[in-house]
Amino acid sequence: MVATEKPFAAVAVKGIRTIVEDAGYELMLLEKYTDPAELYKAVELADALIVRSDLVTPEVIQAGKNLKIVVRAGAGFDNINLPAATAAGVVVMNTPGQNSNAVAELVFGMMIYQIRSQFSGASGTELLGKTLGLHAYGNVGKNVARIAKGFGMTVMAFDPYVSKEVMISEGVKPVDSIEELYASCQFVSLHIPANEQTKKSINFDLMAKMPKGAMVINTARKEVVCEDSLQRVFAERDDFRYASDVAPECLAVLKEKYAGRFFVTPKKMGAQTSEANVNAGLAAAQQIVGFFEKGDVRFKVN
Ligand code: 3PG
Repeated sequence: MVATEKPFAAVAVKGIRTIVEDAGYELMLLEKYTDPAELYKAVELADALIVRSDLVTPEVIQAGKNLKIVVRAGAGFDNINLPAATAAGVVVMNTPGQNSNAVAELVFGMMIYQIRSQFSGASGTELLGKTLGLHAYGNVGKNVARIAKGFGMTVMAFDPYVSKEVMISEGVKPVDSIEELYASCQFVSLHIPANEQTKKSINFDLMAKMPKGAMVINTARKEVVCEDSLQRVFAERDDFRYASDVAPECLAVLKEKYAGRFFVTPKKMGAQTSEANVNAGLAAAQQIVGFFEKGDVRFKVN
């Protein structure tokens, strides 16, 4: 079953259907549902589930009596309750890298929109020669670095899980600490997952350290930014700007006090392209077939 509150492009659903049916299985589709109860009901019959940011709660796992595998068509699996899945013997996978370019391109869309004064006609600034810090150098960070070089930006990155040699070989300057990254970069793009260590970790001290004309671009998860800190940095620095996919909880305050200095998407749309939907959706379907046919668990995360 494909259960997507925010549906895949039709071309991706078609591709998923072909993979599933060619392998001799049946595809069920639940799109644009508004009540989790619809998901509980629909998942009852499913052996396998493909989702996007849909919440796979213990209730979903419990309702899916036949479930053997859940694939998050995308990178972040913070929407899946892993302990509940593991306890029920359900394998959970993601599809890393499949939607990374789409997210990376949105970073530049939001950056340019903001530094060109939100296309208002007022004078803006350019990316050429500016410094961009990547807070994490995974699949999305790497794509952002590739594009940033085309804009003539200097790229730095902090990621304790990636070797400095890899970064250097890709034209990226590694830094030794998060503090150094924020202190060195006018633009910082977030690419960390949301977990107990990272939630609210982008705090006032980090954002206050950034050079003049600072801008934070968040295509990761809204939860990684401390919103009290965000409001404080907006209040204390009139040069600070923020772009986020998707809106923070404090959006009303930002709208009231800091209009023009921030941009947020109405719905998470970093991965919302036909290409990303096809890449991630088809990979998810193939992983499910591979799991049932060959016991392939390469992308298992639990
Ligand atoms: C991801 O983690 O892959 C992205 O945030 C995309 O999420 P989406 O599938 O809900 O657009």
